[in-house]
Formats: sequence, structure tokens, C-alpha cells
Amino acid sequence: MISRGKWGSKVGFILAAAGSAIGLGNIWRFPYITGNNGGALFVLIYIVAIIVLGLPIMLAEFALGRATAKNPVGAFNAIRPGTKWHFTGFLGVITGVMILTFYSVIAGWTLGYCLKCLGGQFKGIVREKAALVFQSFISDSWVQILWLAVFLLLTIYIVSKGISGGLEKYAKVMMPLLFVIMLLLLIRSLTLPGAEKGLQFYLKPDFSKINGRVFLAAMGQAFFSLSLGMGTMLTYGSYLKRKENLVSSAAWVAALDSLIAILAGFIIFPALFSQNMMPDQGPGLVFVILPVIFSQMPGGVWFGFAFFTLLAVAALTSTISLLEVPVAFLIDEKKWPRHKATWLVGMVAFVLAVPSALSGGGVRFFTNLPILHKDFLSLWDKLWGNIALSIGAFLVAIFVGYVWKTANALDEITNNGVKFRLAKCWVLSIKYVCPLLILIVLISQFF
Ligand code: TRP
Repeated sequence: MISRGKWGSKVGFILAAAGSAIGLGNIWRFPYITGNNGGALFVLIYIVAIIVLGLPIMLAEFALGRATAKNPVGAFNAIRPGTKWHFTGFLGVITGVMILTFYSVIAGWTLGYCLKCLGGQFKGIVREKAALVFQSFISDSWVQILWLAVFLLLTIYIVSKGISGGLEKYAKVMMPLLFVIMLLLLIRSLTLPGAEKGLQFYLKPDFSKINGRVFLAAMGQAFFSLSLGMGTMLTYGSYLKRKENLVSSAAWVAALDSLIAILAGFIIFPALFSQNMMPDQGPGLVFVILPVIFSQMPGGVWFGFAFFTLLAVAALTSTISLLEVPVAFLIDEKKWPRHKATWLVGMVAFVLAVPSALSGGGVRFFTNLPILHKDFLSLWDKLWGNIALSIGAFLVAIFVGYVWKTANALDEITNNGVKFRLAKCWVLSIKYVCPLLILIVLISQFF
């Protein structure tokens, strides 16, 4: 038997799950999606999506994982052997690899930016120059591939070391530090001249901007940010001991994750508007505006360096969780040794990540795809980071609500004497609210 490993403690688990949730999704993706979707109204819908969709699905994934102590494919197989349900697990495994590909490219940007800060490239920089630096950085093919490779190697190294020893140790130390630096950035950004316009964009909803795309963006962002819809939280739950409280763990993870995302918005938008920059610049948004904020701070070089280093670590605790899903699948189902599984999946991810790495200007075809007029990375982000996750979350809700049945899931959630006061709401959400809402939002995209 290959030992699967277990989490060392409850705090360790919450921090590792929060480590998975908190990452580029909060600091890179949330601000840029918010900017693309009109600001405050999007934020409002996003928060609602976290509460009515995200939390219930997270609890469902935790319960599925702990009840079966399996990877996503194994979990569905264990509960309904011989059915097609394990394809939901497969979809998760594939989605995990695909998200890992473009996510690692952005994570590579954070590494590159660490060096740029140290080299003093952002000293006294203004917004036009910051945009140029960014553009020439992402269009340099070899540099992109290099940072991508470095980042994936770091991820592979940690995942190959296994659960408690690898994941937990790293998750515990760096996140509080990132939070402190963000608070300092917050103060700087809010005190820039013209910051109010940014706050208005971020906080004052404009209901005339409402449309179906905003709902899909908010729902997808909620799943992406909480690492839901592809079995990450299911897999993390599978390493949990019986006695832990799944309900409070889920609440903690969602609260910490949302806190960081909202905070990131409070940093980005005031600074953006104070520089008279457009909020809908797409994936490059924070990489252009952050250097400008640092250049306006005393000791900005060091702040910038510390910030991008910690952001890289936050991204690392997320890529670890992405890689862990296909690896757990190969360990459990194909009886591969952890080492071999990690390296193989990591290498496949590297090859599949190349188009994303070359889509910032390096190769014309990937930068501006024919017909779609989008770059490859944005396309992958939307396809896997949004639509595939929403489909995954939908299938989890149907499975837990109607196949495994909520009564069994509730048994798993409360079998250690945990009180779950909102059990009725949760059942309602998993059986009706989640499937219906997700379906409506997905179908509405075709009209
Ligand atoms: N949630 C992470 C972030 O916000 C990214 C991530 C890690 C993820 N694991 C995932 C997203 C699983 C979707 C599914 O950066």
C-alpha cells in the first residue's frame, strides 16, 4: 500500500486550503476581471456568488473528499462504482492541468518582477514607462519560457515531497507577511491624489451595466478564487482527519480568501484612477499599476521586491494544489510513486503552457488568435478558469444533491458531533440554488 499522508493539524489544513485559495486569483485575476466588468456591480454579484454558490460547493467537496479519502476520480467511483460519474473527476483532473498551464505563466511574471524591482527598473517610473516595461517583458519569448520553467520546477519540487512535510510547512509562514505588505500598499494607494474616483468605481454600483456576462464572470471568479469545481478542495479534504470541523473550515477559507481579494481591489483601483488609467486593460492590469505605486513610496524598491516575492509564494501554494489533483489521481488509481507522477504531470503542463507563454507578443498567432481575436492565455483563462469550473461545480452539486444524497453528506459533515445550524439552507442550496443558477448563467451566454 502506498501511504497517502494526512494533514498535521486543523490550523495546518485551513492554512493549506486558504493557501490554495489565496493566490493570483485574488491579486491578479480579481482586479482585472473587476475592471473589465464595470467595477462595483461586479463586486456585489461576486460576493453574493461566494455566499450562495461558493460556500455550499466547498462544503460539498470537503465532505466528498473526507468521506472517501480519495482523489476526485476515486471519490466518485467509491460512491457510485461502475457509473459514468467518475468522468466528473476526470474533468477535474484535466481542468487542473490546464489551469496550471496559464497560471504558471502569470506566476512566472511575479518572479520576473522580483528581479526587476531589485534591479531598480521601477525607480521613479511613470505609467507610460511601466506599460512599456511590461509589454517588452511579456513579448520576450525566451524570458517567458524561462520564468515559466523556473516556477513549474519549484511547484514540482514541493509536490514531490508529499503532503504534510511539503505543503503545510510553506503555507504557514508567508501568508501573514503578504497581508502586512498589502496593508501598507493600501495606505499608500488611498492617499494618492484622485484616489476617490477609484473608490467610486469600486464601491458605487452602476445598475445600468448589468448583463449576462457580468454574472458569468462573477460566478467563475468565485469558483476560481476558492479553488472549486475541479476537485482541489475535494482532494485536500481527503487528507483530513475525522475529527475536524468541515463547516468552520469552509467558512474560514472563504472569509480569508475574500478578504484578500477585496483588499487587492482597494489597492489597485484608487491608484489606477489617480493615474488616469483605464480599468479594463485585461491581464496586465496589476503588473502595470503596482510598479507605479511602489515608485511613489519611500523604500519602494524593497517593498516591490518583498511584495512580488510573497505573491510568488502565494501563487506557489496555489499551483501546488493544482498539481496535487492529477498527482493524487495517478498515485491512487494507477499506483504510481509520487515522485514519478509529479514529474510526469509537471512536464506535460510545461509543454501545454508554452502557447500561453508566447501569447503576450512573442508569437503573433497566439497573441491574436484568428477568428476569436483574443490571446491564447485569456482564452484558456476563460475556458478552463471559468466555464470548466462552473460545469464541474454544477456536476458536484447534482452528484451530492441527488446521487450521493444530501443526507449522507450531512452525516459526513456532522458525524463527529459538529453542529451545523444552517444544514437546511445548505441542502436547499446544493439541490436547487446551485444547479439552477449555474445552469441559467451558463446557458444565458449563448444568447
Ligand atoms: N484559487 C487559486 C487562486 O485564487 C487558484 C487555484 C488553485 C485554483 N487551485 C485551484 C483555481 C483549483 C481553480 C481550481 O489563485
